[in-house]
Amino acid sequence: MWPKTHLTDLLGNEHPVIQAPMAGSTTVELVAAVCNAGGIGSMGYSGTPTETIRQDAEKIRKLTDKPFNFNFFAHEAPVNKPEVIEATRERLKPFYSKLGLGEIPRDLSKPLLTFTQERLELLLDIKPPLVSFHFGLPESIAIESLKSAGCRILCSATTTAEAIALEQSGVDIVVAQGWEAGGHRGSFEVNHDDHGVGTMALVPQIVDAVNIPVVAAGGIADGRGIAAAFMLGACGVQMGTAFLSCPEANVSDVHLEAIQNASDDDTRLTKAFSGRPARARGNNYMESIAAHRLPLPDFPTMYTLSGPLRKASDDRLDFRFLLYGQAAALNREMPAAELVRTLVAEARNLL
Ligand SMILES: Cc1cc2nc3c(=O)[nH]c(=O)nc-3n(C[C@H](O)[C@H](O)[C@H](O)COP(=O)(O)O)c2cc1C
Repeated sequence: MWPKTHLTDLLGNEHPVIQAPMAGSTTVELVAAVCNAGGIGSMGYSGTPTETIRQDAEKIRKLTDKPFNFNFFAHEAPVNKPEVIEATRERLKPFYSKLGLGEIPRDLSKPLLTFTQERLELLLDIKPPLVSFHFGLPESIAIESLKSAGCRILCSATTTAEAIALEQSGVDIVVAQGWEAGGHRGSFEVNHDDHGVGTMALVPQIVDAVNIPVVAAGGIADGRGIAAAFMLGACGVQMGTAFLSCPEANVSDVHLEAIQNASDDDTRLTKAFSGRPARARGNNYMESIAAHRLPLPDFPTMYTLSGPLRKASDDRLDFRFLLYGQAAALNREMPAAELVRTLVAEARNLL
């Protein structure tokens, strides 16, 4: 039970609070601050060059001697039907014209963003204490070699069936990611309709179904959420949105402003930007793509196609892909170490 749990026993840290990996928004400063305050800091990597990841590990190790987490996407390579790509181009043309953007990208071969042999070799060399995956796992040989190198493996699950599959694949800790969560859903079954199990329902069912530690994620913003997650049987929490308001996070002004003005119902689950369901601030572009009910290209091809729209729209919320979760309105702006201390004190009082 709080604050010593299976999670802290396994990871050798003080508090069962993981700052979620958030590709593009996490920084070495954020991770080190969280780790030094007794939590677990996570770097989210998608397209980051392998050499940068090596340098990050060196920087983090200079800033902290505590355990930290490096996170990667592990999705299948996209398999796109040419007619789906063409229909999507037609759909995007009016938006491109509206913003005066010219040609829709033709080269869709990059970026792949998924976990590669090069990444694996790097990790076996730098040995981060924790390695986590989103969108499923890489092949079993990668998991076995990372575990043999001493890394603990975490992976997101959005259903009980996914959590059971992760346990059977040798994952050490499952992150039960509820529907409320900001960012991409970690689901690995992308070809069926996602019915979105909420954190409150998901966590206890996964706790009952597996024997490995379960970390709750999605909509947890303060000590109340942490205490609730523990009552549901979780032995730790992973919080993303709450850390976006820390000065150490890499968050644009428009993103921060959206979070400052957030309400409980202003986000949507959308495939319109990347091809995979992600929770982000709702806007007209998403609504318009959703209304046509057309199949979209796979992740991350859709991300390439929407790239110029996202980049051109600095001052236009309508095309921005602003990832955050349903509890963003509860965010508090404070340094990451102070946030960890505040969360821990609040949860301790309640528990
Ligand atoms: C801006 C943002 C980016 C995210 N990027 C990643 C990522 O790169 N890898 C990952 O495993 N999860 C990612 N997530 C999901 C988190 O791991 C976690 O499930 C989620 O933040 C929990 O919900 P909350 O945002 O309500 O705390 C991201 C979430 C946000 C808000």
